[in-house]
Amino acid sequence: MSRIARDSFSSKFGVIAAAAGSAIGLGNIWKFPYITGVHGGAAFLFVYLGFILAIGLPIMLSELVIGRKSRRNSFGSFKKLVPKGLWKYVGVLGLGAAFFILSFYGVVAGWSVRYIFFAFTDAFKGSSAEITDFFNAFKTHPEKPLLYQLIFMLATGSVVVLGVNKGIEKVSKVLMPVLLILILILDVRAITLDGASEGLSFLFKPDFSKLSFEAILEALGHAFFSLSLGMGTLITYGSYINKKNDLVKTAIQVTVADTVVALLAGIAIIPAVFAFGLEPSAGPGLIFETLPNVFQTMAGGTFFSILFFLLLSIAALTSAISILEVVVAYFTEELKVKRKVATILATLLTTLLGVICSLSLGIYSDVTIFGKNFFELLEFISSNILLPLGGMLIALFIGWGLGKYKVFKEIAQGGKLDGRFLAIFMFLVKFLAPIAIFIVFLYGLGVFK
Ligand code: PHE
Repeated sequence: MSRIARDSFSSKFGVIAAAAGSAIGLGNIWKFPYITGVHGGAAFLFVYLGFILAIGLPIMLSELVIGRKSRRNSFGSFKKLVPKGLWKYVGVLGLGAAFFILSFYGVVAGWSVRYIFFAFTDAFKGSSAEITDFFNAFKTHPEKPLLYQLIFMLATGSVVVLGVNKGIEKVSKVLMPVLLILILILDVRAITLDGASEGLSFLFKPDFSKLSFEAILEALGHAFFSLSLGMGTLITYGSYINKKNDLVKTAIQVTVADTVVALLAGIAIIPAVFAFGLEPSAGPGLIFETLPNVFQTMAGGTFFSILFFLLLSIAALTSAISILEVVVAYFTEELKVKRKVATILATLLTTLLGVICSLSLGIYSDVTIFGKNFFELLEFISSNILLPLGGMLIALFIGWGLGKYKVFKEIAQGGKLDGRFLAIFMFLVKFLAPIAIFIVFLYGLGVFK
């Protein structure tokens, strides 16, 4: 029987760049600063950091173990490791989440690409209200956002079609350092503005009286989204990792990178917002409404706004690549189609779904299901239902399904076994993570409202 060698990452830096590229995305730069702003700053941040450590990190390691042990896509991996029973359907959930997330992700990423060009021509100028109207007119327009969504999705597909090593790894190795440089430049600009210190203390001095139950649960949900957990992204990437790599180290490095970039994004945005006397609590519009207002007043604003939207687009691209790869790996391995066919099909389907998302903000905004338009519905189902559910099942699979010795054996390959670490890890995946996620899940469904 002839066997085609499975594509894989070729270097440790490549693994980190690709996995951190997946984790660092719109979640860090668009969502993290605004939810921190809405939930009152530092106290929220500390809770988020606690969840990252106690739940995010162990589930990330779990996904990497499942992927590398099975060397399969997110569906095939469960099927291979435990063929009997219902575990393999965890992968199906993940595929659903991938389709949904990529479709609305492509829309927001498309806005970001458009804003690079708007920044070049200084298009967003005027009063706060004018800038908000400008954004609303753009995002609700029937065709204009579609063009940029399409450009973004084509870019995503063109990288994925080249494969893991020649496409994903190569591109991530270039883009991740660029991203880091861009964000550092923006950080230096933000903290040297007069009046920046108020923003820094908002970000780092906790006031726990501001912390609501809702904020705590939002922090947990965001830990999932931000680390790309719960839908098999890191199972898929894990399946391309060499047996010589230390999985524990990889999980730690990716988690640290994601968290540091979220903090750097907060530092780049929140002090600037305060320095110009604006509020950080604008919500989802913080980036497209409040920030352009900051840029138009700041010295060198045009230059920095171009850099900012470039940064946002790059971050979105490496994340979108990882979501598309989940679907493409499934199509090639389970449906046995060529990578090219799989990529075209997956890009086409998610783009079409994305078109409906985009139109649902404008001409179809009166079509609602459970009071949500299509964009909001997909975001809700994926972030609040599919990711937490997937994450909980992944933790349970490692904690109870696969068997402790198989888990330890996989971790030992390329790494060392530390008894205390393993005991804590098993406690977290067996009990703490599933229980905590179950609570978020109920919250996502609105049980506590
Ligand atoms: N982690 C990405 C971000 O922060 C989003 C993402 C979610 C990517 C799930 C892959 C899987 O934007």
